[in-house]
Amino acid sequence: MKILVTGGTGYIGSHTVLSLQEAGHDVVVIDNLINSSDEALRRVAELTGKPAAFHRTDLLDEQAVDAVFAEHAVDAVIHFAGLKAVGESVSEPLKYYHNNLVGTLNLLRSMDRHNVRSIVFSSSATVYGEHNAIPYVEKMEIGANNPYGRTKEQIEDILSDLGAADGRWHIALLRYFNPVGAHPSGRIGEDPQGIPNNLVPFIAQVAVGRREKLMVFGGDYDTPDGTCLRDYIHVVDLAEGHVAALNHIAERAGVFRWNLGSGTGSSVLEVLRSFEKAVGRPIPHEITGRRAGDLPAFWADATSALADLSWSTSKSLDQMCEDHWRWQKNNPQGYSAD
Ligand code: UD1
Repeated sequence: MKILVTGGTGYIGSHTVLSLQEAGHDVVVIDNLINSSDEALRRVAELTGKPAAFHRTDLLDEQAVDAVFAEHAVDAVIHFAGLKAVGESVSEPLKYYHNNLVGTLNLLRSMDRHNVRSIVFSSSATVYGEHNAIPYVEKMEIGANNPYGRTKEQIEDILSDLGAADGRWHIALLRYFNPVGAHPSGRIGEDPQGIPNNLVPFIAQVAVGRREKLMVFGGDYDTPDGTCLRDYIHVVDLAEGHVAALNHIAERAGVFRWNLGSGTGSSVLEVLRSFEKAVGRPIPHEITGRRAGDLPAFWADATSALADLSWSTSKSLDQMCEDHWRWQKNNPQGYSAD
C-alpha cells in the first residue's frame, strides 16, 4: 500500500516509516518540521534503502494538503502530527486546540475529497484521565485532564462520529503508553527540543553530560518504592503496532480502539537502574516534590491488541534503555550535529 504519514519525521513517526517500509509499503511523509528534523528521514532511507517521498507541509494549510493527495495515490493515512507538551498546552490552550483539531479536520476533509478513508490515529493513554481504575481497558469512559490530552480525546470523538456517520471509513485509534528506546542501529531516536519533559530523554541527557542530574518527581507515592509506575514500551514495538493496526483495518470498516502498551508498570527508580546498567555507571539524581498532574500508577490492559492484531510487545525495559543510550551516546546533540 501507499501510506501517507503525517508527522513522519518525529520520534514515533520516523520509526513507523521504517517499519512500514520494512513491511513493503511505500511511504509519503508530510511534516512542518517545527519540532523535528528531516535528517531523521534521510537516516531511515539509509537503513531501509528506500527513500520516502517528503513534503514540508503544514496541516493548517488545507490547499497544500490537497496538493499532496492530488500528487500521490494514497491508500491509507497514519496521523501523528500534533503538538504534545502537556505544560505548554495548559499555558497556551488556543495554540493546542487550533493546531491539533484544525489540522486534523483539514486532513480528514482532504482525505474524504480524495476518497481515502482509512486512518490510524496517534492517541494517548492520557485520554483515560484520572478517574479510571488500572489497568486501563479500551471500553472505559475517557476524559483527559489537560488541553493536550483533550485534543487527543476530541479527535477520537470526531473520528468516532465520522465512522458512525459513514460506513466507508476504516479507523484505528491507538492509545500509546510511554514510548522509549530507539532503533537498535542507534541512527534514529528521540530528539526533544529544549528541556525534555519526559523521563527517559531526561535521563539520557544527564548520562551524556548535557544536564546535571535527574529530578525524581515524588518519592512518597503509594507504590512499592514510592515513585510512579508507568507502562514503558519500546518505540520499535510501538511502530510495529501501527503496521498491525493498518493491516487489520485494511480489511474491515468501522472504528477500532487499541491500547499499545506492555501491560506492566515500572517505577521511575526501576527505569533509572536499568539505564544505569546500560551506561555502566551511576546517574546523578535527587528525589524532589511531586509534579502537578502526575498519577501514581497506570498501565495498559494489552489483551485486545493481542487478540485482534496478534501484536504484543517483545522488548524489555533493559533493551529500551540500551537502545536509547546507544542513540544518545552516538548522537549527543541529537540530529543537530549533522
Ligand atoms: C507524560 C504526560 C502525558 C503524555 C506522555 C507522553 C504529564 C503529566 N503527562 O506522561 O500526558 O501523554 O508524557 O508524552 O506530563 N519523571 C521524573 N523526572 C523527570 C521526568 C519525569 O521523575 O524529569 C517521572 C514522572 O513523574 C512520571 C514518570 O517519570 O512518574 C514518567 O514521566 P513522563 O515520561 O513525563 O511520562 P508521563 O507522566 O507518564
